[in-house]
Amino acid sequence: MSEQVAERSDMWSSSFIFVLAAAGSAVGLGNIWKFPYIAGENGGGAFVLVYLICIAVIGIPVMASEIMLGKLGRASPIQALLNLARTHKRSTGWSCVGYMGVLTGFLILSFYAVVAGWVCYYILRLFSGEFSGADASAVGEAFGDFLADPLQVLLWFSVFMVITIFFVARGVTRGLELCVRYSMPAVFVLLLILIGYGVHAGGFVESVGFLFTPDFSALTPQAILIALGHAFFTLSLGMGAIMAYGAYVPDEVSVGTTTFTIAILDTVLALLAGVAIFAIVFANGLAPDAGPGLLFETVPVAFGNLPGGALFGGLFFLLVALAALTSAISISEPAIAYFSERGKLSRAQIAVVIGAVCWVIGVGSVLSFNVWADVKLPFFDWTFFDSIDKITQLILLPLGGLLIAVIVGHVLPKHVVYEELGLMQTQTQQVWTYIVGYVTPAAVFCVFIIEAIREVLAHI
Ligand code: PHE
Repeated sequence: MSEQVAERSDMWSSSFIFVLAAAGSAVGLGNIWKFPYIAGENGGGAFVLVYLICIAVIGIPVMASEIMLGKLGRASPIQALLNLARTHKRSTGWSCVGYMGVLTGFLILSFYAVVAGWVCYYILRLFSGEFSGADASAVGEAFGDFLADPLQVLLWFSVFMVITIFFVARGVTRGLELCVRYSMPAVFVLLLILIGYGVHAGGFVESVGFLFTPDFSALTPQAILIALGHAFFTLSLGMGAIMAYGAYVPDEVSVGTTTFTIAILDTVLALLAGVAIFAIVFANGLAPDAGPGLLFETVPVAFGNLPGGALFGGLFFLLVALAALTSAISISEPAIAYFSERGKLSRAQIAVVIGAVCWVIGVGSVLSFNVWADVKLPFFDWTFFDSIDKITQLILLPLGGLLIAVIVGHVLPKHVVYEELGLMQTQTQQVWTYIVGYVTPAAVFCVFIIEAIREVLAHI
């Protein structure tokens, strides 16, 4: 097995670099674009609480499981699961989780790159000073006009896709580490500047109240499923991205410590982005439930009214684009690693093919905001973009996570898992088995069943 690793790629050179790469995967549009708008659509506080519980009870155990499976299997998620099944004489059918992950990756990347394209366009828009002194309605209108133009959206989506493929083709480690090491602290600082705007302009207190005072009457079963799906999405779990990165982890790295570090970093960034964005919402009397446009309708208002706003605003969107890039690279990694192992095509050729497939699917998402705005999936009333987003986040990622927890909790021999996690005492071993083997799968399963019943009831 070790030969295979040497062939495939160099390992992360240290535990710190692995944490940087995994955090680069986790922190992305999920934190800065998606978390604020879904929190806004689902009533704030109670949703945020459920999301935090999902991270703790489901996200953290699944992340530890994924890193461990990658580390034990030492190959692409598909091959790693096959390796483990053969070594421990288990059914090779479990590798279906790996195949599902590859498919999920294609779907996620197709719409992720569309939104990342919006971000790229906003880098230029802010640097140009277009929003200097602009009020919220002008900023909202500017976003609406942009989305209404399919060619413009297609252009920026394509730009982001080409950049992603370029980096993917060159290999995972190069550049990734450098990018995350500097851009993550910078995102942090710019979010603090935005929060400073909120304190000054007067929306800060209301924003904190909105996000951290749970109003359970606003919590629907569907909101719970969205929070669960988002916990997977934001931590890059359920499709093998972290498992693929785990395959390059040096032996001495502690799964537990790295998992906690990544989860905490990711959560803090999401909460900061939420506070910053809702402060702008409340300071300007905007609606918290504006949907996917929320980031683009709020942040330019703040920078447009701050000294040096064009520069800092442009920088902000540049950093968000970099965060999206480090995530996009990881979304394609399970597929890239798998096809590279098969040895028929070069990494660059595989990257181009993956990019082309995602681009074709992504065109549907581009058109969802204009030409196909009225083309909806029957029963659900979802546009193409909504459908891809929801099928991946509400079904495929949680299902992948559930199966990963079952593999680690019930399929692999227990002593192998305990040894890898360094769990020596019987008590800690029991707690781990209880959580990953029962609590995590049961929680995902219950949320699925409740939501399925709700959907059925809603449509009869
Ligand atoms: N976690 C990334 C984000 O929050 C998205 C992602 C999903 C990355 C799935 C990899 C796998 O933006």
